[in-house]
Amino acid sequence: MFSKQTYIERRKVLREKVGSGVILLLGNSESPMNYADNTYHFRQDSTFLYYTGIQHPELALVIDCESGKEILIGDNYTIDDIVWMGQQPTIEQRALEVGISSTADTNTLGSIVLNAVKGERRVHFLPPYRPDNKIKLMDLLKIHPMQLNNSASVELIMAIVSQRNIKTAEEIIEIEKAVNTTVEMHLAAMRMVRPGITEAQVAAEVTRIAQAQNGNLSFPVIATINGQTLHNHYHGNTVVDGKLFLLDCGAETSMGYAGDMSSTFPTGKKFTTEQKEIYNIALSAHEKAISMLAPGVAFKDIHLATAKVITEGMKSMGFMRGNTNDAVAAGAHAMFFPCGLGHMMGLDVHDMEDLGEVFVGYDGSEKSKQFGLKSLRLGRPLEAGNVLTIEPGIYFIPDLIDKWRAEGHNAEFLNFDKIDLYRNFGGCRNEEDFLITSDGARLLGKPLPKTVADVETERAKAF
Ligand code: GLY
Ligand code: MN
Repeated sequence: MFSKQTYIERRKVLREKVGSGVILLLGNSESPMNYADNTYHFRQDSTFLYYTGIQHPELALVIDCESGKEILIGDNYTIDDIVWMGQQPTIEQRALEVGISSTADTNTLGSIVLNAVKGERRVHFLPPYRPDNKIKLMDLLKIHPMQLNNSASVELIMAIVSQRNIKTAEEIIEIEKAVNTTVEMHLAAMRMVRPGITEAQVAAEVTRIAQAQNGNLSFPVIATINGQTLHNHYHGNTVVDGKLFLLDCGAETSMGYAGDMSSTFPTGKKFTTEQKEIYNIALSAHEKAISMLAPGVAFKDIHLATAKVITEGMKSMGFMRGNTNDAVAAGAHAMFFPCGLGHMMGLDVHDMEDLGEVFVGYDGSEKSKQFGLKSLRLGRPLEAGNVLTIEPGIYFIPDLIDKWRAEGHNAEFLNFDKIDLYRNFGGCRNEEDFLITSDGARLLGKPLPKTVADVETERAKAF
């Protein structure tokens, strides 16, 4: 937990930005796997965590913007709970630890909200993403769950985004811890993958490293010889020679901050010529993106510049043709690069995605609907203090190849005969995490090998 002052200050800024009404923040509850008492790992809601630092289920926070009164709502453990779960700080102790002066039992939340509504005060709440919080909000506010997203407070969302988008020095230290653990996870995989090992063994080892830091994973591990599937969570294959192994994984610190990196390396000792050629195109796109990172530069422009590097490279290998700018404007490069260049990262691996990408990544303005660009989570001009990922990739997705070929989609720019020869290639991406500084950007964490030579040197340790 950060100091009490950090949380007091964060809530004060929030209250002043929202200005009027009552802010209602719901923490997360335990989430059952197969029966009520057998739960998934508890993860606090990130916004609740940001303003309270409290990692305990079934809490709510009410902030009166006008009076400044703050109430932490939750129930103390009974002796029955203590027998099974151990002694815990009381709600009052938890509140005092982070500078909240009032507490109340859960059964008072209804009347607190009702009084606000009766007094014609706006109740600001966030779009809920868990079913139990949807039910709580439905009960409290009499809004159907399907309508809750539309009724959520845009003022509250924008105020939170403006705070959480700019990381403070103490947050950067925590994020960098997560990134350094993430680097260790990738190095371990680079040193253990060889033909005969299973994807599941690699996934288990990187999970162990994240959890051994008293933290966790920041998202489900992608450890696969089928990197063409962007979020491939299947770990049932045995590694064979001649493929690319794609690892995308990240650690989360005990305070909830995320790292997120990807690496791609040959399953054998060396890249094949074809793998090296494609990998180097993706790597040039990656370096181009890094060279453009600076405050004031729109991330969408960096994404498009990256797409142009990929298009040029794919043209040089005969996969694409025509004018590069026209090809990128038409979205033809999305055959190989169908996703976004990167995303914000912080307490969430895709930071604040629950609040709405349009608010987090586009300042409230509309996102492109074009295939490829529609998956770009961040488009707006960068600011010092932003933390984000850079993760361009090149993928040969058989279903996409077949679909576009059958439809003649972007046929002007794509050489389908040549592309088809690579339909079993797989995919590659590198991913690193950056802090935007006042005059550019800084890589977070220790560098991971990413040139062909450096990756092959690291891979030699596996044999
Ligand atoms: N590393 C997973 C993702 O960014 O979607
Ligand atoms: Mn990512």
